[in-house]
Amino acid sequence: MSRSDTGHVPVFLDQVLGVFADGRGSAANYLDGTFGRGGHARAVLERFPGCRLWAFDQDEDAIRFGQAEFKAEVEAGRARFFKANCADIDEVAAAEGFPAGFDLMLLDLGVSSPQLDEAHRGFSFYHDGPLDMRMNRAGGVTAADIVNTWDEQELARVFIELGEVQRPFRVARAIAHDRETKPFETTRELAGLIERVDGWRKKGSHPATRYFMGLRLAVNDELGALERVLPVLIGRLADKGRLAVITFHSLEDRIVKNVFKAHLDRGTLVNKKVIKPTDDDVRANPRARSAKLRVFQKGVP
Ligand SMILES: C[S@@+](CC[C@H](N)C(=O)[O-])C[C@H]1O[C@@H](n2cnc3c(N)ncnc32)[C@H](O)[C@@H]1O
Repeated sequence: MSRSDTGHVPVFLDQVLGVFADGRGSAANYLDGTFGRGGHARAVLERFPGCRLWAFDQDEDAIRFGQAEFKAEVEAGRARFFKANCADIDEVAAAEGFPAGFDLMLLDLGVSSPQLDEAHRGFSFYHDGPLDMRMNRAGGVTAADIVNTWDEQELARVFIELGEVQRPFRVARAIAHDRETKPFETTRELAGLIERVDGWRKKGSHPATRYFMGLRLAVNDELGALERVLPVLIGRLADKGRLAVITFHSLEDRIVKNVFKAHLDRGTLVNKKVIKPTDDDVRANPRARSAKLRVFQKGVP
């Protein structure tokens, strides 16, 4: 299985393997909190033959894919899969008997390429589908619930705070107005309204991009989950274990930076400065454009 056969090209793969190799790569317990299509997980298992994988994803499609694609490793007792939000790791660990500490941990946040590309998941305005956007389809609110029921001010807040849209008020008002006649059901309906109201201001970027990002973060409470999970993961690192976190949003990166800083009595920052993609990284994988990587090592030297 090559990196792109899975439909998802992993970001910062060489950098992640590098920080793991300098840490406790061999004979390690590796926790992948955002398995996706297993691009990082596959590379980590290949690079460190003594390593065992504990994989989380809240999306059942990702877990089904992993169980099939890593069948040999599952049967050999080298890989285990958990369909859960990694913020709930303590509950899963209590039932499953986890190792005392993990040597390597990775969070590669956001959505996978298959999630974006499959119209029925409703993440993308390029593919018409139901306004869903849930990573975990077992429950919770959909994007349609938010768009059709949250009041105009709450919608504007989501677009400003999570989507980082500067002036979303006309769009929020138009949504509140139009849904009175007919609720929004599809990604194209919402994208069409945003195109009509905002027009194409920035060259190259669809006007709905940031609105959709804000909605996706709200639907999945991605910032809340990140704030909850980071201290828990740091608590579960073995001595000299390393936690690498890849973010794609400035608010996520700020949370990672602040939580790592707040735990400097329990560990160190592996890189003083945040790692950003090189021009080659972005050429090879445009998704890497806004990516940032930070790494925390447990134990004070
Ligand atoms: C960017 S993809 C990961 C890609 C993966 N590293 C690879 O190389 O294939 C992010 C994945 O993490 C999952 N995810 C995001 N936040 C999560 C969370 N808090 N808990 C569990 N899974 C999460 C998403 O469902 C998605 O499948």
